[in-house]
Amino acid sequence: MTTSVDVINWSASDDYRRSFGCFPSGVTVVTTVTTDGKPVGLTINSFTSVSLSPPMILWCLKENSKLRDVFRHCSHFAVHVLGHDQQEISRRFCAPVEDRFAGLTWHRGTGDVPLLDGCSAVIECRRGEVVTWGDHDVINGVVERHGYCDKEPLAFLAGSYGAFRRFPEVA
Ligand SMILES: Cc1cc2nc3c(=O)[nH]c(=O)nc-3n(C[C@H](O)[C@H](O)[C@H](O)COP(=O)(O)O)c2cc1C
Repeated sequence: MTTSVDVINWSASDDYRRSFGCFPSGVTVVTTVTTDGKPVGLTINSFTSVSLSPPMILWCLKENSKLRDVFRHCSHFAVHVLGHDQQEISRRFCAPVEDRFAGLTWHRGTGDVPLLDGCSAVIECRRGEVVTWGDHDVINGVVERHGYCDKEPLAFLAGSYGAFRRFPEVA
């Protein structure tokens, strides 16, 4: 096992990235709407459920995101858990594309937030407190509505997309 306790500039360290790359995640797209009604969103995997009662979640947004102001001040946002067949959507929502929604099927949800069709789950939230933590904003949300379908989620591990493989149930 490689350890690198001496590294100070963690962000420049490949080992640091490799350590965190060992942790698999799902892939989500978080969306909201600008004050002039434009749908916006980005791909993230820092999403986590925090509290069940009341239902609260959080995710982290990098400080140099073009969407920082929008998400810091929006009333609502939605977290979309991408399905295994939505890799293209993940790539599109982290690419320098002018309109990330072009050609996609979506509709408006709570607070006029754009909701993408065909995802494994959609979690609509009222924005909570935003806390700057290092070079990211931790954006908290209170879940107001949610929905899911049977579609298997997209997975992400060490910079690659994949799918989850279940082990057979042990009786
Ligand atoms: C799988 C995956 C997970 C990501 N997770 C995050 C994240 O949690 N927070 C974040 O700020 N950016 C994350 N990104 C990067 C953003 O999607 C990307 O920087 C995007 O361009 C930011 O939107 P902007 O260009 O409109 O600022 C992730 C990208 C990928 C592919």
